[in-house]
Amino acid sequence: MRKSFSFGILFAHVSEVELMPFGEMKLFTGNSNPKLAHDICDYLNVSIGKAQVFKFQNDNTFVKILENVRERDIFVVQPMSEPVNDSIIELLIMIDALKRASAARITAVLPYFAYGRSDKKDQPRVPITARLMANLIETAGADRVLTIDLHAGQIQGFFNIPVDELTAVPMLANTFRDRGIEDLVVVATDVGGAGRARETAGILNAPIAIMDKRRIGNDDTTATDNLIGDVTDKTAFIIDDEISTGGTVVNTAELVMAHGARAVYCAATHPVLCGDASKKLNNSPIKEYLFTDTLPVIDGEMKDKIINVSVAPLLGEAIRRIHSGTSVGELFAS
Ligand code: R5P
Repeated sequence: MRKSFSFGILFAHVSEVELMPFGEMKLFTGNSNPKLAHDICDYLNVSIGKAQVFKFQNDNTFVKILENVRERDIFVVQPMSEPVNDSIIELLIMIDALKRASAARITAVLPYFAYGRSDKKDQPRVPITARLMANLIETAGADRVLTIDLHAGQIQGFFNIPVDELTAVPMLANTFRDRGIEDLVVVATDVGGAGRARETAGILNAPIAIMDKRRIGNDDTTATDNLIGDVTDKTAFIIDDEISTGGTVVNTAELVMAHGARAVYCAATHPVLCGDASKKLNNSPIKEYLFTDTLPVIDGEMKDKIINVSVAPLLGEAIRRIHSGTSVGELFAS
């Protein structure tokens, strides 16, 4: 059967001859974002694998896989959502259980990879925690990783197993383009985000501006003093990989408004939204937020300002291609 898929800018065709190098595909999930795992299963038309994943009273995590996985092609969907360290431990223990149950291949599906900001030794006596996470996932027994919008692409190289990094940027940009807003400028919140902004600007046919952001100390505080580029009388569209405390995008929004922007919108792949971030975002000049569901969808007072863009079809299609040995890169072919 020949099928077409569309993820915004992409239109890819799947070959009629599908290789099945591994046994039957099975998906499992822990407690970090079961809704996303179920939505991926719906896309793939499979049932979620049965497993018990819980904590004993002594805070130890327990996992039991409740069905046969011998020689199967296993995908464990587990974004590193809050409580982050619990999500990670569940992931590692699930992989260990599956390995010991003789799974043929295990793919860690990590829609959100935490500790991504700790990717270099940029001050004395600090760890490279993203690298440590990669080592732990490999040691547990993962054979591959599938992820979306890492904080820095080079984190792929911390793994010695294949990593497929997808991007939600085209989906977010296309969803915003469909709103038909004109005179746009795409804003990167720091120099590191310039590539992402350029990609978005290509889809929206808009210029870019870049914020000159500095981190102050190690306590999440940022300073945004200067803006490179012209935002006067334009609608600013801020794009970022994640929103954590909200400080970065709110400061950016305030600065672009002070520089004469007419309105400001924002998109981010990963809505981490820790502490009082939701309140901060709700009270900011930003009109709407486009978020994916790599992390559990946000409820509460700011939900009216949120447009959800699901990555379930994107992940589902990538999983189908990994399983069948067909190209994942083709998913993003223009
Ligand atoms: C850059 O460091 C990232 O792309 C994000 O801008 C950052 O993680 C957002 O963090 P926060 O929301 O805490 O300012």
